[in-house]
Formats: sequence, C-alpha cells, structure tokens
Amino acid sequence: MAASGTEAQGSDKLGGEDWAGEMGARWLASLDRFEGMIAPIGEALLARAGYQPGERVLDLGCGGGATTLAIAEAVGPQGAALGLDIAPMLIERAKARAAAAGSPARFVCADAATAQLAEPPFDRLFSRFGSMFFAEPVPAFANLRAMLKPGARIDLAVWAHPRDNAWMMEVMGVVRRYVEIPPAVPRAPGPFAFEDLGYLEGILTAAGFTAMEVAAYEGEQAVGGAGASPQEATDFVLASMAAGRILAEHGEQVLTAARADLTALFSRHYRPGEGVMLGGKAWLVTARA
Ligand SMILES: C[S@@+](CC[C@H](N)C(=O)[O-])C[C@H]1O[C@@H](n2cnc3c(N)ncnc32)[C@H](O)[C@@H]1O
Repeated sequence: MAASGTEAQGSDKLGGEDWAGEMGARWLASLDRFEGMIAPIGEALLARAGYQPGERVLDLGCGGGATTLAIAEAVGPQGAALGLDIAPMLIERAKARAAAAGSPARFVCADAATAQLAEPPFDRLFSRFGSMFFAEPVPAFANLRAMLKPGARIDLAVWAHPRDNAWMMEVMGVVRRYVEIPPAVPRAPGPFAFEDLGYLEGILTAAGFTAMEVAAYEGEQAVGGAGASPQEATDFVLASMAAGRILAEHGEQVLTAARADLTALFSRHYRPGEGVMLGGKAWLVTARA
C-alpha cells in the first residue's frame, strides 16, 4: 500500500524559495546532466530568438550559465550577455565557466522578482526554464520589464502540461506505486506553473507585455543527459529530482524497490549511443515589453 506523500503530483517541487539553497545545490551537483537533458530545448529557443551582434541580452534564471555563454557568443563583443540567478553557487560556477572559456558573459546573483540592476536597459530577455518560480509572478515580470527597452522581445521556454512530459510522468508513475501523492496545485510556482498558456498570457499582460506568441516544442529528452545508461539515469533521478527525495523519505525498502522499477523503466527507453529517451513538451513563448 502506498504511504502518504507530501509533494505535488507530477510537479517536481522546485519552488523558487529553495533555489538559493537545496535546489540550487542539487542542480549544481548534476549540472551537466540537467543541462544535457534540456539542451535541445535551449537550442530551439536560441534558434527562435536569433540573437544578432550588438544586442544586449538578459538571461533570466541562468543557472550554470550555459545559455548565457551561447548568447555572449552570438551577440559578440559589441553586445552584452548578462546572466541573472538567485542561486549563489550556480552564479559562482557560471562565472568560473566564463573565465575558463574566455567569454565576456557576465553574471549577477539576485532575485529577479525584485532586483534593481545598475545596467542600461536590455534589448532582449531570454529564459530557459528560469521564469516559472516566482511566488508573485505579475510584479516579478513587471520588475523584469523595467529592465528592458520599450518593445524589447522576450523569449521564454516553459514546460507544457506534465501529461505531455513523459520524462516526468513516467518517473512519477513509479513513485506513485509506493507513495500517495496529492494532486498538483495548478499554477503553483514550479516547473509546470505556466503549463496553461492563458494563465501566462494574463500574467504577461498584467505586467505590461504585449503580443504573446507561442510555438510548441516537442521532442525526446535524454534522462540524465545524452548517453546516460539506465543505471546512470536512475542515479540521476534519485539524487537530483524531487522523486528521489520523496522516495528516500519513505525508507530503504521503498527506495530499493523503486530503484529497480526505474532502472527497468529506463531500460525499455534506452537507445545505445543516445541514452534513455523520453518525450518532452515545452512552450516557446515570445512577447514584447
Ligand atoms: C530549471 S533551472 C534552469 C537554469 C538555466 N536557465 C538552464 O536552462 O540551464 C531554474 C533556474 O531559475 C533560477 N531561479 C529561480 N527563481 C529565481 C528568481 N526569483 N530569480 C532569479 N533566478 C531564479 C534558479 O536558481 C535556477 O538556476
């Protein structure tokens, strides 16, 4: 019989409040695996954004800064790429990466909801999965809009509904065999906060943005990064995703059984040379400040 759980269904609880602490540390500990998993979506969003030399771009919730480095490359020495993130350990890593790569990308550690940057206004704002964690999204987006030139374009990647994200649903399906998980609270800050595009449009409009347009991204993701084996993908999920924490809270027996189930699940989706491939869907959203 399933024990009771404390976290929302299907919604890996990555609440904004703990990104500067536990969640940031977990993201950092598996940085390459997380970034590898969402790399195709970053590429799609960067291609859609089509940055030009000379543009000044703000990368919201930049994490370890992989996309900020790519943006810096695209905008060149006349442009600017600034990564903004609330997690000090991720900003530290991003700065170290930029230094090692000789990149002009810069990074600031602050809460984007309230940050006041001593920077000229930006031409563009970019965010790969860094915009869904605000406790009060309207004032947060209004604060971000104040950092942009009038008419500046924003490009956001946000997750579509969990039912369209097999990488999450399949993992949570295993967790649910052992742990009772209450239904997700729609719109709660977290990875799936903006699954409902009407809700996101309402937020952007209330914050002063206009002309929202959306393209759906659908593809497969390598759980634990490209080339990860079923065992490595299992280790990644248990160490890095909320599913692992939920299972660990329910004892060694549950954890051992779920580990075996996850490895069996991932073995069915493993393609040698590619990894554990499961479907994912995101919205690529643009709007104007
Ligand atoms: C899912 S990670 C994505 C990281 C990065 N954009 C990437 O694609 O590799 C979400 C990021 O948003 C950041 N974040 C969450 N709430 C934030 C806030 N209020 N202000 C700034 N960054 C925030 C987290 O610290 C984390 O680095």
